[in-house]
Amino acid sequence: MDKIRIRGGRPLSGDIFIHGAKNATLPLMAAGLLTDERLILSNVPLLADIETMATLLAQHGIATERLGNEGRVLSLGGAITNTEAPYDIVRKMRASILVLGPLLARCREARVSLPGGCAIGARPVDLHLKGLEQMGAEIRLEGGYVNAAVPQGLRGADIVFPFVSVGATENLLMAASLAEGRSTLSNAAREPEITDLALCLMAMGARIDGVGSDQLLVEGVAQLHGARHDIVPDRIETGTYACAAAIAGGSVMLRGARLEHIAALATALGEAGVEVVEDKGGLAVRRLNGLHGTDVQTAPYPGFPTDMQAQFMSLMCVAEGAAMITETIFENRFMHAPELNRMGARINVHGASAIVRGVTSLQGAPVMATDLRASVSLVLAGLAARGETVVNRVYHLDRGYEAVERQLSACGADIERTSD
Ligand code: EPZ
Repeated sequence: MDKIRIRGGRPLSGDIFIHGAKNATLPLMAAGLLTDERLILSNVPLLADIETMATLLAQHGIATERLGNEGRVLSLGGAITNTEAPYDIVRKMRASILVLGPLLARCREARVSLPGGCAIGARPVDLHLKGLEQMGAEIRLEGGYVNAAVPQGLRGADIVFPFVSVGATENLLMAASLAEGRSTLSNAAREPEITDLALCLMAMGARIDGVGSDQLLVEGVAQLHGARHDIVPDRIETGTYACAAAIAGGSVMLRGARLEHIAALATALGEAGVEVVEDKGGLAVRRLNGLHGTDVQTAPYPGFPTDMQAQFMSLMCVAEGAAMITETIFENRFMHAPELNRMGARINVHGASAIVRGVTSLQGAPVMATDLRASVSLVLAGLAARGETVVNRVYHLDRGYEAVERQLSACGADIERTSD
């Protein structure tokens, strides 16, 4: 199994290329089920989760071909031949649930394994199912599977989400695009990945109003057609490398990154003593002098992203003073705190909040984490730590960060991937 070995203490300097967003690509691939025609996606990141989604789509009869020199263009096409999403694939990646809405819309039936909980929380899919029921689907849960049928076809519905869910908004937006009549999705998620999905669906012929707002109006159409779509840059990869420059010191240029997508994080970084400015089609990030403890609370977009909470916590470990970090989206997303404490951090977790008291330095240690963002937060801590840090269970990182060790070593970090 691979590991990442880091010898900390080197400032970063150089350019980092920001890839297309993983969390935009996954729903966009599921949208390939909405038409028999070809969907061409460009700026696709090279990540394990993308391969898992391609395997799932192949199971449904949709072939995925990688085009171009680096394989960053995906061509999806084919007719749906099977409406079952099996446990063996779904258990590897929760985003598999995103095939449910499209399969129901196209085939009027679907059998999709329930994803189950994961390291960061219980993560139920009740909002996805309730929304589809409102659109006329009959849903039975049996043997760990969602069995869904809608013999007369999906009908438009007025859906009010009781709280914001990225995945439920995506699933129902895709379903509503092919439902009969008008749907409204209120209290919808507004993440840039939702906007990206809506833009692609519109290029495929969907009729959607309110894109970018928390109320989406969808006039269902009888069929969608093929399209080409360029995937939005990854705002979480952007934020992660911004925190890398902040914790290691120095300055980096994040090529292709967009400031408007990380506004809440940029504000927090500014308070903490890190400059983030737009420059030459990207973002220049520079640590000014010392780092200052800064409180943050996660919230749906445009709030501070839960997917940046672990990385910001690493930064606060070496800031002067204290920071309170409050997690409001997932109930169990502080698994990195005990690992950071093993590196000499002073973090106390109380329920949904963590108090981080800054220390002058961290010490390298063997560490591991149980999810993607927690894993990368340990890489960041390793950049600032004295001595050697070895991050185990690198497969979590490979799900969401393309060549993290190459990106950071190109900027001067002493980091490498090793195998047992
Ligand atoms: C998406 O997950 C992202 N995944 C997550 O990224 C991200 O952390 C999350 O949104 C929040 O921003 C993808 O886009 C593939 P939610 P999703 O539905 O859609 C509860 C990463 O590291 N909920 O917005 O699953 C849920 O348990 C990952 O890249 C219900 O109770 O998140 C959570 O507490 C991890 N019932 C909250 O809502 C439901 O039916 C928000 O979840 C749905 C969700």
